[in-house]
Amino acid sequence: MEIANVAQVANVPNIYYPYLTRIVDIVDETDDIRTFRLQFSNLPSGEKFKFRAGQFGLYSVFGYGEAVFCIASSPTREQYIECSFKKVGKVTSALRRLEVGDVVGFRGPYGNYFPLEDMVGSNLIFIGGGIGLAPLRSLIDNVLDLRSQFRDISILYGARSIKDLIYQEQLCEWSQRGDIDLVQTVDSLPATSTWKGKVGLIPQVLTTMNPSPENSWAIVCGPPIMIKYSIEVLRKLHFPANRIVTTLENRMKCGFGKCGRCNIGKTYVCKEGPVFRADELQNLPESDF
Ligand SMILES: Cc1cc2nc3c(=O)[nH]c(=O)nc-3n(C[C@H](O)[C@H](O)[C@H](O)COP(=O)(O)OP(=O)(O)OC[C@H]3O[C@@H](n4cnc5c(N)ncnc54)[C@H](O)[C@@H]3O)c2cc1C
Ligand code: FES
Repeated sequence: MEIANVAQVANVPNIYYPYLTRIVDIVDETDDIRTFRLQFSNLPSGEKFKFRAGQFGLYSVFGYGEAVFCIASSPTREQYIECSFKKVGKVTSALRRLEVGDVVGFRGPYGNYFPLEDMVGSNLIFIGGGIGLAPLRSLIDNVLDLRSQFRDISILYGARSIKDLIYQEQLCEWSQRGDIDLVQTVDSLPATSTWKGKVGLIPQVLTTMNPSPENSWAIVCGPPIMIKYSIEVLRKLHFPANRIVTTLENRMKCGFGKCGRCNIGKTYVCKEGPVFRADELQNLPESDF
């Protein structure tokens, strides 16, 4: 009999039990960031796993625990999900020891998502820093699979150095498409580099790009300091606050509004986020995210 998740194996309805997924591909993005492609092992026959760009999940290594990552692949690519994770602690270290064929638990999808339908017919500018390209990539690939429904698409992606840029193969593909304007930047360069992109911090490069706010959405994701200054630049360029969206990464435990771990004031980031518009952020205490 096909089963939906471990809860159904045990015949115990428990919202904390994960689905089982199997690693079918591994890509080393940088020295400490790795991407897994995961296929669900136990969805009921004929059933597909559904999610929206911007949502996240809790990925588990049995015996070690769970960690929260966004789903980095597009919902339009239904045969698998992908996550990209940086090795920082217990669970991410255990994940790095896994190989193709090994099992990873997955709970989700959780949280809200990018307002894709509201963006139809608009220009889109994606602004990503470091591993912050992961949630953007889900939306970018989603939009590219529906390309005719959107106007101009620009991507500004930056990292500390060339070796910190993730998704290099995909960046190369995007740079070769005629229907995307891809700008890459690094904070600094070694003296003997053949780098053809920009050198400078993302908010500075964004200022020189000077994107028009006319019928445009900006989607920003990266380290909190980069998000803060990029939003400031976008506001100076007269992007309306309700057309700037970002994602927050407050620490989480349950993922669906039960434990109170992720809140900013009365707002549960796991339920009302992780995607927020800039006008919504203005109403949250800044010290909490
Ligand atoms: C909605 C959301 C989406 C995320 N998406 C990604 C993703 O796509 N890729 C990715 O690599 N990471 C992502 N993160 C962060 C990720 O959840 C943590 O890095 C991860 O849980 C660390 O697990 P660990 O057990 O290896 O580290 P731990 O052993 O728990 O901690 C190691 C160190 O990291 C710190 N830490 C742990 N979690 C966080 C956090 N949320 N914020 C700041 N510091 C933290 C700890 O204080 C400690 O210093 C996301 C977080 C959220 C909430
Ligand atoms: S993570 Fe438990 S309430 Fe948000």
